[in-house]
Amino acid sequence: MRGIYATLLALSEIGFDSLYLDAQGIQHAKTSVEEEEDKEKRLKELYETVERERKCILYEGASGYVFGEGNPYSLVLFVGEAPGEEEDQQKRPFVGRAGRYLNQKLEEVGLKREEVYITNVVKSRPPGNRKPTPKEMQSCLPYLKKEVEIIKPRLIVCLGSTALEGILGKNLQVTKHRGQLFDYPYNRNIKVLLTYHPAYILRNPNAEREFVEDLKRAKQLLSTS
Ligand code: URA
Repeated sequence: MRGIYATLLALSEIGFDSLYLDAQGIQHAKTSVEEEEDKEKRLKELYETVERERKCILYEGASGYVFGEGNPYSLVLFVGEAPGEEEDQQKRPFVGRAGRYLNQKLEEVGLKREEVYITNVVKSRPPGNRKPTPKEMQSCLPYLKKEVEIIKPRLIVCLGSTALEGILGKNLQVTKHRGQLFDYPYNRNIKVLLTYHPAYILRNPNAEREFVEDLKRAKQLLSTS
């Protein structure tokens, strides 16, 4: 919740029960509130479209699509690579070991999982958890772009280089580029931060400090931007 909707809510909480606006103001306020309130509905419609169109490939080998979840009003959007086995079974992103670790680290920096939104570049599990191919990522990109358009985050945190590749089309080594900020190519008001995939940290605990640093930076950017 943010913008005019949050302001109206705050005003109502301190006792304002009416607000006087001119015609132009009313129209503007109405549009903003409708847009804000519509996010859940628009995401639901988007995910129904993905199901119906089946253009986001990889669907056949998996047991269906796994869509994003969390707070659609969040200013930060976390993007992973693809659902794994547990995500495929539960139809929820980041619910396996890597997801539990991510939740823990988010808490550590003062970000609760349910306060942010989490999704993946590809929406179904690649066979044997292999890395999705550029073609598979391309087929799902229009839907990820739509998710971003609806959520309108200030910051997209790419969990791993594959997520970054899916968004920017660039294959950059995470060990060299983590912590770097990029422009989101489809909306220059949105920044993209590259960090490690939580599964990488589970295999390489030495990188945990940098991962936590990146999460802290994300939290900080959100409070200043
Ligand atoms: N890894 C990902 O990239 N996404 C998930 O949802 C789970 C594990």
